[in-house]
Amino acid sequence: MKKIAVLTSGGDSPGMNACLRAVVRTAVYHKIEVMGIMHGYNGMIKDEFIKMDAKSVASIINRGGTILKTARSTEFMTTEGRDKALTNLKKHGIEGVVIIGGDGSFKGALEFSTMCDIPFVGCPGTIDNDLQGTDFTIGYDTAINTVVEAVDKIRDTAESHDRLFFVEVMGRDAGLIALRAGIGVGAESILIPETKTDIDDLVVRLKNKRKSKTSKIIIVAEGDEAGGAFKIAQEVKKQLPEYDTRVTILGHIQRGGNPSAMDRVNSSRMGFAAVEALMQGKKNCMVGIINKKIEYTPFENAVKHNPELDPDLMRMVNILSM
Ligand code: F6P
Repeated sequence: MKKIAVLTSGGDSPGMNACLRAVVRTAVYHKIEVMGIMHGYNGMIKDEFIKMDAKSVASIINRGGTILKTARSTEFMTTEGRDKALTNLKKHGIEGVVIIGGDGSFKGALEFSTMCDIPFVGCPGTIDNDLQGTDFTIGYDTAINTVVEAVDKIRDTAESHDRLFFVEVMGRDAGLIALRAGIGVGAESILIPETKTDIDDLVVRLKNKRKSKTSKIIIVAEGDEAGGAFKIAQEVKKQLPEYDTRVTILGHIQRGGNPSAMDRVNSSRMGFAAVEALMQGKKNCMVGIINKKIEYTPFENAVKHNPELDPDLMRMVNILSM
């Protein structure tokens, strides 16, 4: 393998830069030329290829976002778009591609593989942690820490005013950010898409909390079937009018910030493994870390979100927040 390309795609996540640094430097070490593709698949289509070397990724391991920029490309979903992308990959003599992105990006790569023989290897870059084949995606740990830090602050004001807060967190269709962050902040309840949300049951549980407990935090995953934090807060208020309720949507703050140590380490390991995987002839698979070991999962399996969560965790949340 003489020349590879690397791109970041989909929603950015903290640790993408650390992964990019590992990809570029591993390739340079093995005397493989590396080109960065700006703006995800859009840049592949519009020929935004730039030469990269060890220096071009200096001092980025600690930075959130992605220096290659990113996009959710609608053009790449079309055959014409993919044709243009292939022409540009060939023009630059690219023999392998590392794509750092989430399930949409891998679905795109899978589609592309039916018309293109250039191997793609993925690194799981998304805060949502909704990919099979890895215990942690790049950015998930940082996002959870961001939520925990924010909710700790909300707890201060909630306690001062004896209020009930509904805090909505990201995760698209997955409740993993909500679950882990909710445990971390000692939430009174966590509402996630993977389990049925029953407002009556939530009301009963709130009533059953210790009388001395005046502030309460409910973490709501944005994909929860009950329709988001505002709607749930409204429903609860109807049954518990005595509560002073407030809603906070944390939003894109969860995608920014310096990556945590864990995200930096995992991203570096995955970027390093992705280049070596291409050199070994692997293709159309995602690098992941399972039980601390590097594993490879075919794209088609990686994108299957598994809605099964450990029921013991939810049971624990209810017990610990008595
Ligand atoms: O997939 C990452 C994510 O942050 C989701 O949690 C969220 O639903 C979505 O992206 C938001 O996307 P956008 O930045 O395009 O609004």
